[in-house]
Amino acid sequence: MEAREQWGTRAGFIMAAIGSAIGLGNIWRFPAVAYDGGGGAFFIPYLIALLTAGIPLLIMEFTIGHKYRGSAPLSYSRMSKKTEWIGWWAVFVAFVISTYYSVIIAWAMSYSVFALNQSWGDDTEGFLFGEYLQVADAGQIGSLVPGVLIPLIIVWVITLGVLFRGVQRGIEIANRIFIPALVVIFLIICIRAVTLPGAALGLQAFFEPDFSAITSGEVWVAAYGQIFFSLSIAFAIMITYSSYLPKKSDITNNAFITGFSNSSFELLAGIGVFAALGFMATQAGVGVDEVVAGGIGLAFVVFPQIINAFPALSGLFGFLFFLSLVLAGLSSLISISETYVKGISEKFNISRAKSVAIGGGAAALLSLIFATNGGINFLDAADYFINQFGVALIGLVEVIVVAWFLRKLPEFQEHANGVSDIPLGLWWRVCLGIITPIILGYMMFSLFVQNLF
Ligand code: PHE
Ligand code: NA
Repeated sequence: MEAREQWGTRAGFIMAAIGSAIGLGNIWRFPAVAYDGGGGAFFIPYLIALLTAGIPLLIMEFTIGHKYRGSAPLSYSRMSKKTEWIGWWAVFVAFVISTYYSVIIAWAMSYSVFALNQSWGDDTEGFLFGEYLQVADAGQIGSLVPGVLIPLIIVWVITLGVLFRGVQRGIEIANRIFIPALVVIFLIICIRAVTLPGAALGLQAFFEPDFSAITSGEVWVAAYGQIFFSLSIAFAIMITYSSYLPKKSDITNNAFITGFSNSSFELLAGIGVFAALGFMATQAGVGVDEVVAGGIGLAFVVFPQIINAFPALSGLFGFLFFLSLVLAGLSSLISISETYVKGISEKFNISRAKSVAIGGGAAALLSLIFATNGGINFLDAADYFINQFGVALIGLVEVIVVAWFLRKLPEFQEHANGVSDIPLGLWWRVCLGIITPIILGYMMFSLFVQNLF
């Protein structure tokens, strides 16, 4: 048997884990979620979610990968013959995400070029849904959108090229370039944003605490949901990445570094986005609350407007903003796609090159659906389904099976403590065995109630 592929350095693993964590969710999801969840007051549920569920679960996934040395399905099958399906379920969800995440990165890539001379014009919403995605043109539903196709091909060529080169020569090198570049570019954007006229108004809107918000269960659910999605937990990713750790490598400290780096970037994004929104509100003579947006609307409708209004160098800053989306997105897409590339390669005993061609090829082909006229509707539906039922449910099953059915936590604790700087204690088992299942159970319950009534 071939020796298992390994990370070349500790920093390489950390960069890759951070690269997976920092994604579109940090830039376009967190700021809006925090604003809706009480602004400054949201940091209370958010930090509690990070410390009671996010980091403990990250430690657990790092331990599983490190101990069983396999992609998610193989690791779960080594844990117990009966649990391989949990790994495949997570891999399947990751596969679905990759088919549409790639399309959004492709849009960002096109927009980085459009930004150079603001070719989206004044009506940015009309441009996105009209000229660019052609969703208005009902007669042509189902035809490929030409503006999306070429960037989408580039996105997949980069992603599959990186995966083809393997763990050290592909994933590690890519993240060691992408992540530092992303941080530098994003800092430049944030410094520019906070010095724009009106920035202070935006920051005030973002940080002003509304403590009544955090008495609502929904806000706590939103905080835990954001932490799960943002840390890429329950997607098979962190298990796969940690399976390439050398035998003697830290687990717990690496999880803390990954968790805090991701949250720091999230905070930075909140500052940058809201400073820019404050600028835009001031220009338009309206309140900040009237321009707040998240997701596709924030990135592809509101940001182009902000860039149109820029006092100087709008082409450059627009380009940098969309480039940061591309870099954050690509490093996450690489991690999502590695879950099935490795999963398939181990299950069917085929080479990395073959499973990149099969798994990556299938994902790339399916992503074409979202690149068709009208595909945005599927994209919304897929994203809704995944976020509502994929993440929370897998996370719940994962902790219940590990903590209660297999009763593995004491063994995992010993394993992690054998290699880590920071010792795990009873708090870790309480977080995973009791707090996390209760919160995730409540999350699922309220989702069902919401969807039934
Ligand atoms: N963690 C990434 C983000 O914040 C998103 C992601 C989710 C990446 C699932 C991979 C898998 O955007
Ligand atoms: Na994230």
